[in-house]
Amino acid sequence: MKEVKVGVVVGSLRKDSYNLMAANALISVAPRNLKFEFIEIGNLELYNQDYDEKSPESYVAFREKVKSMDAILFVTPEYNRSVPGVLKNAIDIASRPWGQSVWGGKPAAIMSVTIGNVGAFGANHHLRQALMFLDMAVLAQPEAYISNAMSLFDASGKLVNEDTKAFFTNFMKAFADFIDYANQGLN
Ligand SMILES: Cc1cc2nc3c(=O)[nH]c(=O)nc-3n(C[C@H](O)[C@H](O)[C@H](O)COP(=O)(O)O)c2cc1C
Repeated sequence: MKEVKVGVVVGSLRKDSYNLMAANALISVAPRNLKFEFIEIGNLELYNQDYDEKSPESYVAFREKVKSMDAILFVTPEYNRSVPGVLKNAIDIASRPWGQSVWGGKPAAIMSVTIGNVGAFGANHHLRQALMFLDMAVLAQPEAYISNAMSLFDASGKLVNEDTKAFFTNFMKAFADFIDYANQGLN
């Protein structure tokens, strides 16, 4: 399979983030043709439409980085049954100025990770709604709602639950196939 550049966007800035642990675990089991790069979102000023005239350097660099990717993997917690503000901020920034969104046409996958019991379903689907509007091709199956994250990783952040590891492997294989399928229409 062709080499594919995948940008990884993590919706938590916390240094001991379970979502970051999950992102690293996903990368470790992914098909080898996927080449990953984390895309930083914690340095972005709060979006202000006035900046569409003259954007801060952080916006310019972020948009360029997103644009350079073939696909995007989102791994996010749920805050108050929705997407963390820092992630929504990043999505809005790369969607503007109007008509110049850099998200459109890119295949995407979403995994939501929580210490709670309902898999951060709300965040997963609010994010999905925004990505669909932005004309991204979002992987539908398998759905990835990861609950009880504190029981899945060891103290060093390594994924130690074997069932979850098998699911992560299956999820990334499906994402790689989906990217391949989505790109057939573009080539
Ligand atoms: C402001 C805030 C709101 C939260 N709301 C939810 C929620 O709606 N649903 C949920 O499952 N967990 C919620 N949590 C708990 C997160 O799942 C938990 O903090 C998780 O570890 C965050 O992900 P991280 O480890 O990647 O930082 C919330 C946490 C914070 C700080």
